[in-house]
Amino acid sequence: MSALFLKRFIRNPFKVASIVPSSRTLIRRVSGKMDFTAPRVIAEYGPGEGCHTREIARRMHRESRLLLFELDPQLCTHLSAQFAGDPRVSVHNTDCARLPDVLAEAMLTHCDYIVSGIPFSILEKEKKREILSNTHAALKPAPDSAFIIYQVTNELRARGHCNHFAHAESEYCLVNLPPMFVTTFYKQANGRTAHAGNGKNGRRMNGNGAH
Ligand SMILES: C[S@@+](CC[C@H](N)C(=O)[O-])C[C@H]1O[C@@H](n2cnc3c(N)ncnc32)[C@H](O)[C@@H]1O
Repeated sequence: MSALFLKRFIRNPFKVASIVPSSRTLIRRVSGKMDFTAPRVIAEYGPGEGCHTREIARRMHRESRLLLFELDPQLCTHLSAQFAGDPRVSVHNTDCARLPDVLAEAMLTHCDYIVSGIPFSILEKEKKREILSNTHAALKPAPDSAFIIYQVTNELRARGHCNHFAHAESEYCLVNLPPMFVTTFYKQANGRTAHAGNGKNGRRMNGNGAH
């Protein structure tokens, strides 16, 4: 599976943006941000060959839904084959900016969680703004609803791109190639104190601390 990922990186380095899939440690850190005890609607942006997807699908409730948004057609074919037997998972070979349309087509109103591995730092400003605004609007107005990203830089937080979220928590995962920030943006503050724009240099941590 890593071979397919590498091939797709060579073909389209600016979209795929990584030569190896996320590590087991990073995958566990990201999945650990979600509560899987009840049915959830989850969207994943940029699942690649499906390393986070497999863990989310393994943990999630049997009545949950998992919507995958992947631009690369070959990775989509691979994902569709992998999850062919799991009716909770749907693969969408489209830009994640289309989340509102896909939710409407699936007759779903909101997401509980949105997980993202797309390379935000190399997206054009307008595209970034569109995705972040659609993401915020699609999240359920509930205490734990969150947008969870893993990125080499913490620029979405440090540069205030996610200031419309009420609260953010970041941690640093060293056990990944390359090391990544995992940042959780909550739609509601819910008694949590720091604003989503905190962390000027991208390394100010709340809640979970740095690792
Ligand atoms: C860095 S890879 C992450 C892959 C995988 N999630 C992992 O952790 O190993 C980023 C993926 O995002 C996809 N991608 C980039 N921009 C996207 C967009 N706007 N919408 C959907 N997928 C996108 C790429 O095709 C690529 O598979």
